[in-house]
Amino acid sequence: MDPTPLPPHPVRGQRRRLLVAGNWKMNGSLAGVQALAAAIADGAVARLDRVQLVLFPPFTYLPEAQRRLGASGMAWGAQNVSGHEDGAFTGEVSAQMLREFGCACVLVGHSERRTLFGENDAVVARKFLAVRQAGMTPVLCVGESLPEREQGATEDVVARQLQAVLDLAGASAFADAVVAYEPVWAIGTGKTATPAQAQDVHAFIRGRLAEADPAIAASLHVLYGGSMKRANARELLAMPDIDGGLLGGASLNVDEFMAVAITAQRLAQENT
Ligand code: PGA
Repeated sequence: MDPTPLPPHPVRGQRRRLLVAGNWKMNGSLAGVQALAAAIADGAVARLDRVQLVLFPPFTYLPEAQRRLGASGMAWGAQNVSGHEDGAFTGEVSAQMLREFGCACVLVGHSERRTLFGENDAVVARKFLAVRQAGMTPVLCVGESLPEREQGATEDVVARQLQAVLDLAGASAFADAVVAYEPVWAIGTGKTATPAQAQDVHAFIRGRLAEADPAIAASLHVLYGGSMKRANARELLAMPDIDGGLLGGASLNVDEFMAVAITAQRLAQENT
């Protein structure tokens, strides 16, 4: 028996429907969820038919997201999940639990989880699979640190991070999945990858997936994350392999977040 309906997939089969996601990290409030819902209700999102918005608030705000955003067209998801199905894992939250709160997608392998909480590639791969098995969309975060970039190891790092998931879950698990390229040196630093730097890595990611399954690679959403904001969104989102953004700091300000969404909408309209 499965009483919980599957959450809607945010962008199934529509690669050029840009995805603009806000990762609140350990920030925000109930009032913040309400303010975002109010901004959407104001009509801005009604015009955003070419953009899918997603909010990743802290776990505790997911019920409010479900209540307030349910009818808005904006999807929501969690920032983390357990790789285990259930059991004695104090403090953990399972994929099934997230599904009960209508989460469409879940971040896995964010660099803060990898570096501050010791999540290695194997742990991240298990989480990816757990999200998939619960019927939600994993958003796999990958990216290199500054020393890794300076050593010319960017592609090796990203390939290793992808491979761990491919080995455990298989290429088919990437069908309709999302990958977020987030160079660690650009996260929360105000430094952004140049559009060309980001495009190179995005094309590399798609190329790696294409070696395993060309059709899945072609429909994969690859988001850019790392100090994306109103001022730089347009040039990044204009790149052919950048299918949206994962915004941290900029997502905490409703106006800034909506400005990026509107930029994405305009670009998508211009490109048709
Ligand atoms: P930032 O964070 O936009 O504040 O750099 C992005 C992220 O960590 O997802």
